[in-house]
Amino acid sequence: MDIQGKGVIVTGGASGLGGASTRLFAERGAQVMILDRDAKKGEALAAELGDHVHFSQVDVTDQDSVKSAVARAAATFGGVHVACNFAGIGWAQKTLGKDGPHPLESFQQVININLIGSFNVIRFAAEAMSKNDPMADGQRGVIINTASVAAFEGQMGQVAYSASKGGIVGMTLPVARDLARDGIRVNTIAPGLIKTPLFEGLPEAAVQSLSEQPVFPKRLGDPSEIAKTALFIVENDYVNGETIRIDGAIRMAPR
Ligand SMILES: NC(=O)c1ccc[n+]([C@@H]2O[C@H](COP(=O)([O-])OP(=O)(O)OC[C@H]3O[C@@H](n4cnc5c(N)ncnc54)[C@H](O)[C@@H]3O)[C@@H](O)[C@H]2O)c1
Repeated sequence: MDIQGKGVIVTGGASGLGGASTRLFAERGAQVMILDRDAKKGEALAAELGDHVHFSQVDVTDQDSVKSAVARAAATFGGVHVACNFAGIGWAQKTLGKDGPHPLESFQQVININLIGSFNVIRFAAEAMSKNDPMADGQRGVIINTASVAAFEGQMGQVAYSASKGGIVGMTLPVARDLARDGIRVNTIAPGLIKTPLFEGLPEAAVQSLSEQPVFPKRLGDPSEIAKTALFIVENDYVNGETIRIDGAIRMAPR
């Protein structure tokens, strides 16, 4: 699918990987709506990128909020052809910690935002895409989710985060199968360690040590490298039902 002129929604588009993808899509002539709960950053990025980039304040876990933002994007752009799920949160807590068992509330919150929030966007985006006129090959839309290498090698303390990302990997193929009839492709990106605001709070020594973990190149990934993968998924019509690791061959150790 050529992204030029298409209507795109990007959750988590105000920051990090979603922000980099919003920039690249806009550069390639797409019309983009950033769906994020951070209005300050989302509005600032939309203003910086110009008329073809918009912002909607959305909590991905909220049904009405997502439904109305997808409807707004479809009305503004004359259809939604690409939906990217980048909204997510990290979490570190052990199954059994010094203070007792992992609270269920924090486990539920991570699953709710990362996994259920992504599915919430998928279902409304799919509904909007199903109304697009099919292209010559029958294609109507592309959905891209974000997992993590923690879906495969979750470290100590990553139980909630890994479960949420493993759920995203697990739903990728069945959602692609469900939406095949509508001509919608569904894929997931599993990033390794990418330099986003997530790392800003860490001391330089910790960032240095993390940078040495990938096999090659020995550095953190750049958000543009995830954005390029999202663009590749949109442009390559034969990529479907797949999770793609972008990680410098890192395999996370237990801690
Ligand atoms: N940076 C990494 O190394 C890395 C590695 C693997 C996976 N990921 C995943 O990539 C995605 C993006 O991460 P990032 O590094 O760009 O983080 P980030 O914190 O820079 O961006 C995440 C964005 O999601 C938004 N968001 C959070 N909860 C939301 C909600 N309920 N509703 C709407 N918006 C919400 C935040 O406001 C923020 O703008 C996440 O799903 C993260 O788990 C990141």
